[in-house]
Order: sequence, then structure tokens, then C-alpha cells
Amino acid sequence: MDFLTLFSVYVAVVLTCIVLVCKYSGQQQTPLGRLFNTVTQVASPWIPQCIQNISNRTVHRLFHQRNNFFIYLHLILEAAVYAEYSYEVFQFCLEMETTMVNVCVPYVLLAIKSCIFYLCCRRDPGTLTKKNHAAQLKVYQYDEQLFQEGSMCPTCQFVKPARSKHCRVCNRCVQRFDHHCIWVNNCIGAQNTRYFLLYLLSVCAMAGDIVVLTGDMLFHVVVRSGLMHARYIDEQGQEQPSGLLFIIQHLFLTFPRIVFMLGFLVFVFFLLAGYSLFHCYLAVVNQTSNEWFKRKGHSCQHCHPGSGHHSHTSYNPMRGFYNKGILKNLKEVFWPLSPTRKKDN
Ligand SMILES: *[C@@H]1O[C@H](CO)[C@@H](O)[C@H](O)[C@H]1NC(C)=O
Ligand SMILES: [Zn+2]
Ligand SMILES: [Zn+2]
Repeated sequence: MDFLTLFSVYVAVVLTCIVLVCKYSGQQQTPLGRLFNTVTQVASPWIPQCIQNISNRTVHRLFHQRNNFFIYLHLILEAAVYAEYSYEVFQFCLEMETTMVNVCVPYVLLAIKSCIFYLCCRRDPGTLTKKNHAAQLKVYQYDEQLFQEGSMCPTCQFVKPARSKHCRVCNRCVQRFDHHCIWVNNCIGAQNTRYFLLYLLSVCAMAGDIVVLTGDMLFHVVVRSGLMHARYIDEQGQEQPSGLLFIIQHLFLTFPRIVFMLGFLVFVFFLLAGYSLFHCYLAVVNQTSNEWFKRKGHSCQHCHPGSGHHSHTSYNPMRGFYNKGILKNLKEVFWPLSPTRKKDN
């Protein structure tokens, strides 16, 4: 395959990944998600009805019903990356005096991540049942802003405890609801936010580590082969010094799979690093993403720029009424409040 074909395939795959992730990661408020919605709306008159129906049904089944599709997708991608790493990078790294310990770190990270992932998927996020409901009502106080005292969940037929929300995908109310994550096929709530956070961080670590090792390997290949000082003959028969573009092109054609993997991992790393930072921030300021999005919507409705008076003070999470300090907030994420272990005022 020539460089251009390979490169177009590459760009197409990456762009599809970005669009899919943004559209369906459960946070449709992202700018890219909105862009995607607009594009689909504009394009819909040109798409035949039957295709639209099929795709609507698929979307419904994949994203609005519980299913393990993304868990499998996840495992397949992971297997592909690790196969590639073991098959091509591992051996090479050993040859160029990278120590055994360094080369094995990705496997250790994989083991850790798999445990956390399992916990995150399997652990009950804090489902509200008839039995624990009365006790759960006492865990958090109502703030009368986002959570009104006495509001009912029409499906579950009971009064919603503060900070809880009904998950439409799982059809249950969840305590300290964060969001429903399709990648773990579970809600993220009081009891598994910690695993979710650790899971994000461990995937970042995994991707980052493999990126560093692979980058190091490619760098050594370039240095060893003397490509940096090489010259090539162009179409006019002139001798040209090899530039960065030439080296990238060369690597692309010599190690297409490795470069592909590297690009994918860099993408995953930055995406998840941003997302992890967001979730760390939320943990530190004692908020859930559900509250964060609601609060954003809330203040937008009421704050008319230039309207003169502000009847309500805008919420500042860092100095919020519920924020009792970073350590206490983190403690609450890692040791969720439960009715038996009530918070100490
Ligand atoms: C976190 O916020 C909730 C209200 O949303 C509050 O009841 C709780 O005490 C806060 N926890 C900490 C550790 O600040
Ligand atoms: Zn409910
Ligand atoms: Zn759910």
C-alpha cells in the first residue's frame, strides 16, 4: 500500500473514533456531540427511510438498553493493542537494552486495570430499593435547588433521596448518581465512583506507558538506521536531505501497524486524560457530573447578562456550601457515605 492510501485509512479510522466517542459517551453536551447532532439533522432528508430506521433501532439497542457490546469492543481493542505490543515492540525493546522490568510494566498495568474494571462493572452502584430507601433518604440533605424535598420518582414510586437519579437505561434509581457509562455497562453511583475514577486513571497509565515504550522504540530505529542524516533522490533526480516528513513516511510504511497503534493510543490517552481530570475535579469539589451539568443549565437559565440584578448568587464549587475541603470530599468518594456509617457533622 502506498503512503497516501494508508494515511487516508488512518485518518478515517481516527475521525470515526472521535465522532463515535463524542456522540455516544453519554455526555451529549460536548461541542462535538452537538456538531454531530446538527450534521445528522441536516443530512437526514437525503438518507433513505429504511436505513434511518435500522440505524435508529441499532442506536437504541446499543445506547439505550443495557448490553455488553462496548465491553466486548473494549476487550477486542485491548487484545489488539497488547498483541501488537507483545509481537512487535516487546522483542525490540528487549534488544535495545530496555530493562525487563520496564518492558513488563504494561502487563502489570493491564492486570491492575482488569481488576478495577471488573469491580466497576460488577459492583452495584447504589441501587435504591424498597428496603434501603428509608435509610438512604437520610444520607444527604436536600439543597432545594437541584434536589427538592419530596419529589417522587414516577417509575420506582418513592421519594427521591437527594443526589439520586433514575437511570433510564437500567430502569432504577441510583444513589449519588453520576452517569450511566456504556463502556462498563453500569451506572456510576455512590458505590462505584471510586472504581470508575481508578479505572480511567489506569487506562491512561496503560496507554501512556505503551506510547512511551513504542515511541522510544521508533526513535531508536530512526537513530540506528541513520535516517536523520540520510539523503534521498526525488522525482527530478535531485538529492534531498531527509526531513521529518520523510522519516514519518518511512516509519509509516515500514511499521504500519505500530504507527497505527501509536496514533490510536495517543488519541485514547489525551481523551481519557482530559476526562479523568474532569472527574478528579468533580471528586475534589464534591459533585457528580449529573449535578455539574444540571448546575450549568440552571445558572444559564437565570443569569441574563446585563440584566442588572442577580437574585441568586452563582454557585462556586470551590467555595460551595457543600464543600468541606478536598480531603473530606475525596474521602467521601472512596468511602461512600452509607446509612450505617453516617456522616459526622
Ligand atoms: C457533599 O455534598 C453533599 C450535598 O450535595 C453534602 O451533604 C455532603 O456533606 C458533602 N460532603 C462533603 C465531604 O463535603
Ligand atoms: Zn426511579
Ligand atoms: Zn444505568
